[in-house]
Amino acid sequence: MMTPDQLRQKYLDFFQARDHAIVPSAPLVPENDPTTLFTGSGMQPMVPYLLGQEHPLGKRIADSQKCFRAEDIEEVGDNRHTTFFEMLGNWSLGDYFKTQQLSWFFEFLTEELNLDPSRLYVTVFAGNQQLKIGKDQQSVQLWQQLFAKHNIKAKVVDQAEQQGLQNGRIFYYDETKNWWSRAGVPADMPVGEPGGPDSELFYDFGLAQGFHQRSEFKDQPCHVNCDCGRFLEIGNSVFMQYQKTKTGFQELPQKNVDFGGGFERILAAVQDDPDIFKTQLFQPVITKLEQLTNQSYADASELAKHPFRVIADHVRAAVMLIADGVKPGNKEQSYFVRRLLRRAVRYGKQLELEKPFLGDLVTTVAEIYAKPYPEVQEQQEQIQQVVTKEEQNFHRTLNKGLKKFQQAIDDLQQLDAQTAFELYQTYGFPLELSLEEAKQAQIKIESKIKDKFAQLKKQHAQQSRTASAGKFKGGLEDQSVVTTQYHTATHLLHAALRKILGDQVEQRGSNITAKRLRFDFSHTKPLTATQIQQVEDQVNDWIDQDLPINKQTMSKAAALKAGALAFFVERYPAEVDVYTIGDPDKEWVSKELCGGPHVSSTGEIDQLKIFKEKSAAAGVRRIYAKT
Ligand code: SER
Repeated sequence: MMTPDQLRQKYLDFFQARDHAIVPSAPLVPENDPTTLFTGSGMQPMVPYLLGQEHPLGKRIADSQKCFRAEDIEEVGDNRHTTFFEMLGNWSLGDYFKTQQLSWFFEFLTEELNLDPSRLYVTVFAGNQQLKIGKDQQSVQLWQQLFAKHNIKAKVVDQAEQQGLQNGRIFYYDETKNWWSRAGVPADMPVGEPGGPDSELFYDFGLAQGFHQRSEFKDQPCHVNCDCGRFLEIGNSVFMQYQKTKTGFQELPQKNVDFGGGFERILAAVQDDPDIFKTQLFQPVITKLEQLTNQSYADASELAKHPFRVIADHVRAAVMLIADGVKPGNKEQSYFVRRLLRRAVRYGKQLELEKPFLGDLVTTVAEIYAKPYPEVQEQQEQIQQVVTKEEQNFHRTLNKGLKKFQQAIDDLQQLDAQTAFELYQTYGFPLELSLEEAKQAQIKIESKIKDKFAQLKKQHAQQSRTASAGKFKGGLEDQSVVTTQYHTATHLLHAALRKILGDQVEQRGSNITAKRLRFDFSHTKPLTATQIQQVEDQVNDWIDQDLPINKQTMSKAAALKAGALAFFVERYPAEVDVYTIGDPDKEWVSKELCGGPHVSSTGEIDQLKIFKEKSAAAGVRRIYAKT
């Protein structure tokens, strides 16, 4: 059986042999990108290059990118949804296009992984007259040729949603399915955002397994995009060739390919088992849970598998996030780590796990990722401490929640959907837990509580989606100039801190929104008022001098030799971009390895004001500043 490490390596080797430079995964929390809290797709760190900036490693790039999708947290429990996942990616930055992309991906699946071509199905963009973007007939032809090599006559079908598969193999769908951008469908894209039609590939786990008949969709026709579980999307080739304008779309200066393939799902296809939790990426965690609970995952009903899967997913995601520097807390990224751990504890209750158990699982996760992400094992002890502390604290909250539950029930003499939802929201009680408690206490349960609860959850999810879409738009559309200014200002601040406080000061983190910059750096004491003033004056003095900013591409070794600063040196590829503020060969004030973008001279930045300085962690200070 192919191991996860072997599959990842096979993919990277395949594209390396086709002249792709392999880059390391970017962190789960994007640096200097105010548009999203997490890296949710492989293309996110590539955006500047898709828009035309030259990549230091050339026009062909491949990687395996760690991703986290917070919006999927509620979906976890079935055989295929996760919050954390890896996305295998390859990019053509204005180099190859549809022909090579589709044939390489098909070759990889059928020849490298030996997937049976008759189990593969594809979708293509049906076009949209209003957008003046036509049907993707070229992809249809290419797919037909590829299938024909295996003597498969690939029938093309429209409107599978209404009429089902109709013996088709290639399906046209509109932009709700076959268009990709970070913001989703064309109408939701902010001006300037890149996107394009895509072609998705699905693996068929087989009619015989009876997915559709057993699913909630049994009365509707089954098609590849149906959520019954028979088909699993395992890869998406986006033809990233458009950019949103005020009135519609324009062609980007270059035609790009953005391919992303779900690593866990491809592994499931290779095993021909639709349960991704049975892959080696999860099995060791599940086995540990079986030992702790004396229950068998294999023997559990589909529903009884849910707690195993939720715990396995959430622990893995929390570990990966903590390893990338996010601690559990109440704000932004931290909140999700807290939520993941709390949900894991609660689902542990369903498996009758009463004592702290998450710490044990941290070791197992670290082991699974020892090869691709050794930094997890390196930090294993700290991660374990963080996780266990959070778990212990939550047990206290949970007990408080149980008391609240009792009160609510005493007052109402029944459990209704609203109360169950409040308990869920505030104390993290899953509905099942409330129902169980109610049964034990022999209390009446409101009729149709499950439907009503689901309705409340849906309403809430819609509200948060709207909120995050709003955040996205605000971030990118009007503010890209401001965030670019802040990005360069961050380099100036870093340089000023080192000048005033000493060279031992090092960047520990950075976060930019349209309203302010935030900068974390190593320093043991609070800054005095005088030091803050000196730093601010120094930055503003450099802004007044209108210093030029220069980008140079060089080897990492040469960059470090030239004195460039690098945050997380090991994460940079062999060829890097170095941004210098001032004259790169003579008098410069800052030189850093960085992906950009930056303003072209410091005079473009408004005067900076530091408005807060505080502790961020032991030995780390945090500065907030705005222009
Ligand atoms: N960006 C596309 C996706 O996330 C392909 O990489 O599906």
